[in-house]
Amino acid sequence: MFFDRPDTGEVSILVHLAVDSESEREDPSEFEELAISAGAQPVDFITGSRKQPSPNYFVGSGKLEEIQAAVLAHKAELVLFNHSLSPSQERNLERELKCRVLDRTGLILDIFAQRARSHEGKLQVELAQMQHLSTRLKRGWTHLDRQKGGIGMRGAGEKQLELDQRMIGQRIKAINKGLAKVRGQRDQGRRSRRRAEVATLSLVGYTNAGKSSLFNKMTESHTYAADQLFATLDSTLRRINLKNYGPAIVADTVGFISHLPHQLVEAFRATLEETVQADLLLHIVDAANEFHPEHIVEVDKVLAEIGAKSVEQLIVFNKIDLLPDVEPHIQRGANGKPRKVWVSAKTGAGMDLLHSAMSELLAGSMANETLRVSPQQAKLRSQLYASGFIEEEHIDEQGYFELRVKLPRTDLDRILKQSGTEIINHDIAVQERLEQASVEKATIA
Ligand code: GTP
Repeated sequence: MFFDRPDTGEVSILVHLAVDSESEREDPSEFEELAISAGAQPVDFITGSRKQPSPNYFVGSGKLEEIQAAVLAHKAELVLFNHSLSPSQERNLERELKCRVLDRTGLILDIFAQRARSHEGKLQVELAQMQHLSTRLKRGWTHLDRQKGGIGMRGAGEKQLELDQRMIGQRIKAINKGLAKVRGQRDQGRRSRRRAEVATLSLVGYTNAGKSSLFNKMTESHTYAADQLFATLDSTLRRINLKNYGPAIVADTVGFISHLPHQLVEAFRATLEETVQADLLLHIVDAANEFHPEHIVEVDKVLAEIGAKSVEQLIVFNKIDLLPDVEPHIQRGANGKPRKVWVSAKTGAGMDLLHSAMSELLAGSMANETLRVSPQQAKLRSQLYASGFIEEEHIDEQGYFELRVKLPRTDLDRILKQSGTEIINHDIAVQERLEQASVEKATIA
C-alpha cells in the first residue's frame, strides 16, 4: 500500500513493535498517517513483538538487522519508531543504521512545528521541542547530514544544532516569559467575552475528525483544512449567530490523538483551556472511521485530564456522506436533550439540525417568561424591543404591558438589575391573580 504514493517526502522505514508493556497501543495505521502527515514517504513497515524493549536498541538484534537491510534496500533517510526512545537508544540506533532515527514524540513534535500558526502555538511547540531535544544533544550528529532540515528538524529543531545546554536553558526561559505574556492577553479576551455574556462553544475531537471543516461550515469562514493530521493547532475563535438563541463564540481546538506524550498535553494545556471554560463542547467524531469508538474514549480521557469532563457535550458524528443509509438526525438522551447529531461537513447535510441542537442546549440558559411592565417603564420596554427579545405583547386593564419574552437569562438579569425593576413570571402571575383576584399589586413589584 505504500508504493503507490508520490515520491515526495523523505524515504522512511516505519517500525512498530507490539510490546507487552504497551499492550494498549492502538492500530499501527494511525502511525502511518502520522508519518505521512509529517511529510514522510514510508516505504516499509517493520513490525514485530517483544516482551520488553531492549535497553540498547529498543529492538532485538535480529530485528535490528532486518531494519538495517530495509534501510539499505530502500536507501532510506529516516527510521521512525512508533515508541518513545531514550536518547541513548536513538543514538545507538543512528550509529548502527547510519541514518536518522526519530521516535513518536519527535514525530508528533515535528507535525506540531509545521502546523503551529499563532504566536502562542509556535512558542508552545518550541518549548516542547527544546525540552525534548535538550536531552538528545550529545548524540553523534556529525556522521549524519543534519544540516538540510527535514522531519524532526523543523521549527526549533533547525536552530538547536548550534545551541548548547546553557543556551537552551536561556531560550526556555525566554519562551516561558513570552508564553506568560500571550496567555495574559488571551485571558483578558476570555474575560471580556464573559463580561459580554456570550456563550462559548468549543469543538473538540480526535485528529482528522473534521473539526476544521465543520468549523468552517458552521461559521462560513475559511480556516485551513487539509487532509493532514493536526491541521488545527491553535484554537481559533469565530462568532456565529444561532437562530432561536443569538450570538455565540465557537472555538476550534487542536486535534486529540491517542498516546499523546504527556509533555505535549502539558505544552498544549493553554490551547485546551478554552475547552474547560466552554459552555458547550461539540465533540466531533469521524463516524466513517472504524476506530471511532476508541477515539471517543481517548478524547474523553484527555478532557478528564484537563478538567473539562463536567462541561456539557454534544457528540457530532461527521462524514455521514461516507456511510450508506445514514440520514442526518438528532438522537436525544433520557432527559430529552439532544445528545448526538449526525451530519456531513462536506455536503452540509444536517447542519440545520446541528444548529438547532446547539441552540436548544444553550437555551437551557434561556429565559422564556412573561413580564409585567408598568406604563412608566417605557424605556425598558423599548430596550427589550430593540434587542428583539419580545415575542408577544398584551396590555391589561390597568394599562400594564404583559410582554412574552425570550432572552438569555444573563441578559434578563442584567436588564432587570439596570432598570431596577422586578418582573414576575406569567405563570406565577396568573396563579397569584387567581388566588388573590382583587389584589393587582401582588403581581408587580
Ligand atoms: P485536525 O486539525 O488534524 O485535528 O483535523 P480536523 O479534525 O480539523 O479535520 P479536518 O477538518 O482538517 O478534516 C480532515 C479531513 O476529513 C479533510 O480531508 C476533510 O476534507 C475531510 N472531511 C471533513 N469533513 C468531512 C465530511 O463530512 N465528509 C467527508 N467525506 N470528508 C470530510
